[in-house]
Amino acid sequence: MTVLVVGATGSIGKLVVDEAIRQGHSVRALVRDSRKARQLHPEARVIVGDVTRPETLSDAVAGVDAIVFTLGSDGGGKVGAARVDYGGVRNILTALGSRKARIALMTAIGVTNRTGSYNRSTEAHDWKRRSERLARASGLPYTIVRPGWFDYNGPNEHQLELLQGDKRQAGDPSDGAVARHELIRRAHLRGETNMTKVIVVIGAGQIGQAIARRVGVGKHVLLSDMRPDNARAAAEVLGNAGYETSVATVDVSSRESVHGLVETATKLGDITGLIHAAGASPTQASPATVLKVDLYGTALVLERFGSVIADGGAGVVISSQSRHRLPPLAVEQNKALATTPVEELLALPFLQPDQVKDSLHAYQLSKRGNSLRVMAEAVR
Ligand SMILES: NC(=O)c1ccc[n+]([C@@H]2O[C@H](COP(=O)([O-])OP(=O)(O)OC[C@H]3O[C@@H](n4cnc5c(N)ncnc54)[C@H](OP(=O)(O)O)[C@@H]3O)[C@@H](O)[C@H]2O)c1
Repeated sequence: MTVLVVGATGSIGKLVVDEAIRQGHSVRALVRDSRKARQLHPEARVIVGDVTRPETLSDAVAGVDAIVFTLGSDGGGKVGAARVDYGGVRNILTALGSRKARIALMTAIGVTNRTGSYNRSTEAHDWKRRSERLARASGLPYTIVRPGWFDYNGPNEHQLELLQGDKRQAGDPSDGAVARHELIRRAHLRGETNMTKVIVVIGAGQIGQAIARRVGVGKHVLLSDMRPDNARAAAEVLGNAGYETSVATVDVSSRESVHGLVETATKLGDITGLIHAAGASPTQASPATVLKVDLYGTALVLERFGSVIADGGAGVVISSQSRHRLPPLAVEQNKALATTPVEELLALPFLQPDQVKDSLHAYQLSKRGNSLRVMAEAVR
């Protein structure tokens, strides 16, 4: 991953830089003063910028996969807390725009304590707490860490104690202490917490949208269609209904195109659901096109998404009652529809033009094939 560290010259930030490089990531260090960057790991790419000056941030966020915030205001009291602890996170996320990146944000133990003397004089808790809201509201996968007091290094401070909530608020190290290097050593940049769950809809018509409404709450719905306008229209409808959406164009009868859709979807997060509702109707298309889109296309989609779907994920393929109107097929024909490698499917003898003369027959065969394929893929 390309990881941007914001606050890279800080006491925690420079350890994050070292650890991210050790873990094999490509690291960008945002620093205010290039002279201070000399202390950083030589493999880090230094970018000079100041989080309070948005015009200095675009290079820092271009193409990043993850952003680790370890910044902190150096004095400046309330103004500094607002400008750096909160404004810094806001400005970086604004510079990121609609691009996707995983976020790790370090704030501090005690941020929910609003009434203590420390917060009353600095508002540091208030602004850090508000910065957490920005991470939550960003729609990006995020991890928030509220560490205890740094580097007391007592014997029992060299192991992480992970607590939920923010209940220790004495305002001194009795709340909890942690050795700096320990905090970083355990902080893997895997970004697995709160990873975005993605529902992929292929064929953004009414059926696809209806299913997406049922299963897409709290997830990212990627609406794909052969016609970009259809995908955009569906995204607008679902977006207005409160769903997080994006769009893609796909032709399921093209391996390259389906591969591109898989790539787009996997970049968004974990694919936990696939809704395949695309198809060519027998009233619109030739027998060859029906077979290519409905039979081959479905088999292709199942093959490609079957390899990347998340643990516990599921798919639904819209077949048709039309499949029951076909007389029984031979056992070998059923087996062939279920298990023939995708690229050999359309060469099956009983799918050739002299055998399949009309689009309805092609449609019935395809839809029968879809059911058999789903059964076979489910146990692959
Ligand atoms: N100390 C503790 O016990 C403790 C406990 C829990 C949480 N925390 C919190 O953890 C955070 C980091 O702590 P730390 O000890 O690592 O702090 P630090 O050493 O002071 O590091 C702060 C970093 O933020 C950078 N920074 C400040 N203003 C900036 C700006 N306008 N633009 C870009 N970068 C800016 C600093 O850059 P420069 O190097 O250029 O100044 C530095 O890299 C703080 O928010 C702190 O409140 C501290």
